[in-house]
Amino acid sequence: MNSFQEYLDTVNRAISTIPYPEQPSQLYEPIAYHMALGGKRVRPVLTLMACDALGGDLLVALDAAVGIEMFHNFTLLHDDVMDNADVRRGKPTVHRRWNDNTAILSGDTMLTIATQYIAGTGNWQVMDLYNKTAIEIYEGQQWDMDFEQRNDVTVDEYINMIRLKTSVLLGCALKAGALIAKASDADCAHIYDAGVNMGLAFQLMDDMLDVWGDPKTFGKEIGGDIMNNKKTFLLINAMQLAKGDDADELRHWLNDPYTTREDKVPAVTAIYERLGVRQLAQDAIARYNELAIASFNQVKMSDEDKQAFISLANKLAGRNY
Ligand code: IPE
Ligand code: IPE
Ligand code: MG
Ligand code: MG
Ligand code: MG
Repeated sequence: MNSFQEYLDTVNRAISTIPYPEQPSQLYEPIAYHMALGGKRVRPVLTLMACDALGGDLLVALDAAVGIEMFHNFTLLHDDVMDNADVRRGKPTVHRRWNDNTAILSGDTMLTIATQYIAGTGNWQVMDLYNKTAIEIYEGQQWDMDFEQRNDVTVDEYINMIRLKTSVLLGCALKAGALIAKASDADCAHIYDAGVNMGLAFQLMDDMLDVWGDPKTFGKEIGGDIMNNKKTFLLINAMQLAKGDDADELRHWLNDPYTTREDKVPAVTAIYERLGVRQLAQDAIARYNELAIASFNQVKMSDEDKQAFISLANKLAGRNY
């Protein structure tokens, strides 16, 4: 097993040499722009790690890895339109720097380029998994938007929503590597479960960083979820716990359409602090991370390789970026 950095270098080399046509420049420039912004590249590295740990061909896995990262970036172009987000990876989002139509069409093109890479693996099981995962992500994104309009979302509904919009892609990234390595059904299932649980912790942490992160390291504007009334784990728990004045105040911030960012974000954050929901989220992250580690431990691979996955899971569960 190589280091995270070595897999990352491999992924970045492959991504930086993707040949985009020159014209129409308004279609391809935003794609090159977004793919060059970097990001953590967690998913493609997971694909390479899984394939390597289970004894597969890394060159084939690299096609799956690039395809999955391209797909992830496509979802971000559309997500930033849906979430009205101005900043990603410390730079203007595509729909802000260009416009919504560009984000839609460049995003569509990225989706198809991603599919070409996945097809390049020549592995129908990977193709099947990718297609199923993509549809689950669209379902998750729809629940995410539906929930903005609802005030009775439960924690279970939230967990299912983030499982769909975020976690299954981490599961897919790992299982794709395992499938390319021709791993057993049991190993494929365990590594997929590890990815899903890691993904739940990952999205819970993303929700926390949206409130308490440092925009310089996080690369996104703080408070976007609060402005959009996103039914995060934090907000759902706060709505359930708030009594008296806190409950009235929270209701006011959720229902007043004329509030400004400057007023609403610090006020809702203060309610979260008073109700202790930050600790609840931290506890949930620790629980899902433990489940992920338990699943990694069930995969038949060397102890050294298990340790590499466990270290990465721990690192992501405690990240500030
Ligand atoms: C952002 O994903 C969307 C979520 C699922 C939280 P990442 O946090 O992996 O974003 P990048 O690719 O590192 O920018
Ligand atoms: C993103 O969830 C999930 C997908 C893009 C599919 P978020 O909306 O929380 O992601 P960020 O915070 O914008 O990266
Ligand atoms: Mg979103
Ligand atoms: Mg978003
Ligand atoms: Mg987020």
